[in-house]
Amino acid sequence: MRIDKFISECGIASRKEAARAAKAGLVTVDGQAVRDLSRHIDPEKQRVTFGGKLIEYRRFTYVMLNKPEGYVSATEDSKLPVVTELLSPELRKMELFPVGRLDRDTVGLMILTNDGALAHTVLSPKKHVAKEYRFKCDEPMVKGAEELFEKGVTLSDGYECKSALLSLDPDRLGGIITLTEGKYHQIKRMVASTDNRVTFLERISFAGIPLDTSLGRGEWRLLSEEEEKKLREAANIQ
Ligand code: URA
Repeated sequence: MRIDKFISECGIASRKEAARAAKAGLVTVDGQAVRDLSRHIDPEKQRVTFGGKLIEYRRFTYVMLNKPEGYVSATEDSKLPVVTELLSPELRKMELFPVGRLDRDTVGLMILTNDGALAHTVLSPKKHVAKEYRFKCDEPMVKGAEELFEKGVTLSDGYECKSALLSLDPDRLGGIITLTEGKYHQIKRMVASTDNRVTFLERISFAGIPLDTSLGRGEWRLLSEEEEKKLREAANIQ
């Protein structure tokens, strides 16, 4: 792989920035400064540094995004803005896609990756990956809602939801729901089955990875190694 492509794919700098840095002697391969970034390297074997820091090679990229309202969980849409538009130009070239969907008006934790196998596996219903959501609703949740959700709510189309954990705020006007499945509009429909309506929905964790609250809505960062490990554990992939 070309050195400049490697640097940009690792999300370190654009090719232009890398070329400038290389001119200033800030890019090294196996300890030698390189000026010609069209040279090819083997990222699995060779050590590249940028500004004195070793670039860790990652075959796939995993991003945590704090999704804002108004964005579709997709890579393209004919009319509406999509979540991948919020990423940097370098990341946008890497063909990342969202791991699962959030409704357009749902905010919070969204993971994007170009690791198709991992995404497919963590989304498999068989894996029971936990997703936590904070919600607000119109009316106080009915008495016994916690038990009802634990037993499994039946949706208007007859679908019987798996057991979900409901932890309500003291005023019962919202709380936290933990699901291990992800049907279309699931939380909205679960709450609607109790004659109530969700007015706010935020995903706060996925596979044990909490939303980084230092990210503003629309901001993103790469997943840490620890977080990547949690994803792989959730998928049972080494
Ligand atoms: N449940 C919903 O109703 N919407 C979401 O976006 C996620 C879970």
